[in-house]
Amino acid sequence: MTDYKHRVRPVKKSDLSLILSWRNHEEIRKHMYNKKIISNEEHLNWFNKSNNDPKKTLLIYEYLGEAQGYINFEDLIDGGEEGVWGFYLSPFCKLKLGLAMGQTALKYGFSNIGYKKVWGEVIKENIISQRFHEKVGFTFKCFDKAFTSDIIVCKYQINDKKFYETLKNDN
Ligand SMILES: CC(C)(COP(=O)(O)OP(=O)(O)OC[C@H]1O[C@@H](n2cnc3c(N)ncnc32)[C@H](O)[C@@H]1OP(=O)(O)O)[C@@H](O)C(=O)NCCC(=O)NCCS
Repeated sequence: MTDYKHRVRPVKKSDLSLILSWRNHEEIRKHMYNKKIISNEEHLNWFNKSNNDPKKTLLIYEYLGEAQGYINFEDLIDGGEEGVWGFYLSPFCKLKLGLAMGQTALKYGFSNIGYKKVWGEVIKENIISQRFHEKVGFTFKCFDKAFTSDIIVCKYQINDKKFYETLKNDN
């Protein structure tokens, strides 16, 4: 039996086919910068490269021991004080686990990785994710070019203090 309800852990090679089935799902792809179907080979190359990049952290969110979401963090400045995150819940998940996944992942970002600030970037059509960032405690900062793409996105930011305050008020 598991002694936790929500947790995040590093992605393993054995998670790759599940992650690809989520990433290639229409409901996920439409919110991503690259909306094309990703092949197994591209996926494996992406994993081998990203997993060996010290600036990146790839995580699986588990609810009651079952994988239900994927999160990544990437350092934006040396020393790892600021990072940007990306995430999606399993499109097959019937439970409303978004908030729990976001909070569990951000706790990891602030306490395990040691970020002081985390950025979120959302394409303008993705209203759910914009509301979601606000609900977690992020503040809208600007419309700007994404950190890793030329697409204009809504940029959100949260620091550790604001995150833990919002978490406390939520419980
Ligand atoms: C964003 C995502 C994680 C939210 O998950 P979720 O299970 O819907 O989240 P929750 O039910 O915990 O809802 C948390 C908050 O998100 C917002 N939200 C969720 N569903 C919403 C909807 N249909 N319309 C508007 N806001 C919504 C609300 O603020 C909600 O809080 P509330 O119910 O108290 O109003 C999920 O929808 C997802 O994975 N989307 C696809 C991938 C994606 O967009 N990733 C982010 C790219 S930037």
